[in-house]
Amino acid sequence: MIDICDEIDWNEVWKSRTDRSRGSAPGRNCARIWESKDSALRFWDMCQRERSRIDQTVWETDITAESRVLDIGAGPGTLAIPFAQKAAHVTAVEPADGMCSVMREKMAEFGVHNIAVVKKRWEDVDVERDLDPPYDVVIASFSLGMRDIRAAIQKMTDASSRYVYLYHFAGPTSWDLQWERIWQSMHGREYRPGPKSDVLYNVLYQMGIYPHIRTFRLEHDQRYPSLDEATQDMAFRADAKTEAQKSILREYLREGMREEDGALVLPGWSTRVKMWWEK
Ligand SMILES: C[S@@+](CC[C@H](N)C(=O)[O-])C[C@H]1O[C@@H](n2cnc3c(N)ncnc32)[C@H](O)[C@@H]1O
Repeated sequence: MIDICDEIDWNEVWKSRTDRSRGSAPGRNCARIWESKDSALRFWDMCQRERSRIDQTVWETDITAESRVLDIGAGPGTLAIPFAQKAAHVTAVEPADGMCSVMREKMAEFGVHNIAVVKKRWEDVDVERDLDPPYDVVIASFSLGMRDIRAAIQKMTDASSRYVYLYHFAGPTSWDLQWERIWQSMHGREYRPGPKSDVLYNVLYQMGIYPHIRTFRLEHDQRYPSLDEATQDMAFRADAKTEAQKSILREYLREGMREEDGALVLPGWSTRVKMWWEK
């Protein structure tokens, strides 16, 4: 029995919430849902529609023309590409096939040649062998899918010569609430979201890191040309494989989506937190 005054190991809390979340959705983890190129492209398009998030992130990151940036969980290059347009070099760590292939296409489209893509999970990266440290800026933006977050953050800190920036979620997101409503009927078990910023802050605190914090809300609607395409995309994310599961999802989407300019829109929102510190 833990006394309420005993010190809690917050890294263990992060691990157990990660395990609980993965247990509630075994086929669904933060990197796997981005293996498909269609999902990666849809993510890129959604980010371009919420361009202010990208612009603000780039603007708020202390980068000069000489900076070397390490972007962990870079996705399709949403931040890596604008960083590369401002900085000397970007190393983008990204494990998912779909994301890496969209990132390479976007690099060519934007004529960006100073990004080195490392196709690995951060946990599997050997900083000396796979990367080219030191980096003035290390950033992990909505990509904290690591089970041992303390070890992951220690590795980020070691790779950085100056700043570390982390972005994560606070409180339930619209998709947490959406899955909570239909998970039980789709999968026969409760939906459990992953660990949030409260746990992250406590892990940092126990590491002796006292970050600056900024909290902001983001609206991010998903647009689909048809209900079929919405169901297909969301089925992938919801790990819905059988026809029965897909029809529960389809029904939910039909009720939850609205028509706008000839497209179907699934409204989304989340509260987000930026934590950053200088070494
Ligand atoms: C939501 S996207 C965010 C992309 C980009 N950072 C941004 O802010 O737009 C999350 C990305 O993190 C990646 N990711 C998840 N777990 C990871 C891990 N353990 N190591 C590295 N990247 C990971 C996923 O593959 C995915 O591309």
